[in-house]
Amino acid sequence: MPTVLITGTNRGLGLEFTRQYIDLGWHVIAFTRKPHTAELQELNQEQLHICQLDVVDHAAIDRLAEELAEITLDVLINNAGTTGPKGAPECIEYSGVDNTDYDIWREVFEINVLGAFKIATAFHPHLAKAERGVLVNMSSDLGSMTQNTMGNMYSYRSSKSALNMLTAGFANDWKDIISVSMAPGWCRTELGGAGAEIDPAESVTDQIKSISKLTAEQSGCFIDRFGKPVAW
Ligand SMILES: NC(=O)c1ccc[n+]([C@@H]2O[C@H](COP(=O)([O-])OP(=O)(O)OC[C@H]3O[C@@H](n4cnc5c(N)ncnc54)[C@H](OP(=O)(O)O)[C@@H]3O)[C@@H](O)[C@H]2O)c1
Repeated sequence: MPTVLITGTNRGLGLEFTRQYIDLGWHVIAFTRKPHTAELQELNQEQLHICQLDVVDHAAIDRLAEELAEITLDVLINNAGTTGPKGAPECIEYSGVDNTDYDIWREVFEINVLGAFKIATAFHPHLAKAERGVLVNMSSDLGSMTQNTMGNMYSYRSSKSALNMLTAGFANDWKDIISVSMAPGWCRTELGGAGAEIDPAESVTDQIKSISKLTAEQSGCFIDRFGKPVAW
């Protein structure tokens, strides 16, 4: 039974990844700030190991990495992420050129960038034990410089561009795993908002297929849910 570790699993894409990997027969290690969420508790607990974690808590990440030292990870999905206290499009209320909230910006970086870096570095040894360990950094089209034709959302956009830089760095530093940045598409979650284009289930089905086909040559790439390159 392969094993996947996913962060931010109590709702949205993280919950959907957890559901679908369980349906595929995988063992899922689910990190979440809210382990008692009904949706998580309803899933097959035999394949699920839920751990409480806020990704800004680096000491707790180290403790979990140590506790799980014997585990081999086939896939790690750095999914936990935020646009700040509001999802899209309301987050533009505090992330534009005239209204930036710097405390929110710092928090967004702490979660989307430093948290993802800390998780990746703490669990790299677990991934490196797998024959084909894959690290997926959940990025966004909004982190693409090329696709920034609208401005705004400075905090979120810059955090995802920074996350993409981590992916490029990991691909150089770690030849024993595959590291990619993923743009999941605009999905109807709390973060994506009700007006988003696709259902989380559709995005996650496509992503899981693409993750399963990744090759070492693709390490360091920024891809969409179909596995196609996204312009940086
Ligand atoms: N939805 C989209 O359209 C879209 C598009 C591009 C990229 N993405 C990316 O996809 C990922 C998942 O987004 P989503 O749409 O599923 O958003 P969501 O529904 O808002 O879920 C975000 C998840 O991240 C968790 N999280 C936030 N801060 C955390 C922290 N400090 N520690 C641990 N968990 C934390 C949340 O947990 P709590 O309930 O405890 O807050 C929640 O489980 C994010 O990285 C996001 O940037 C989403």
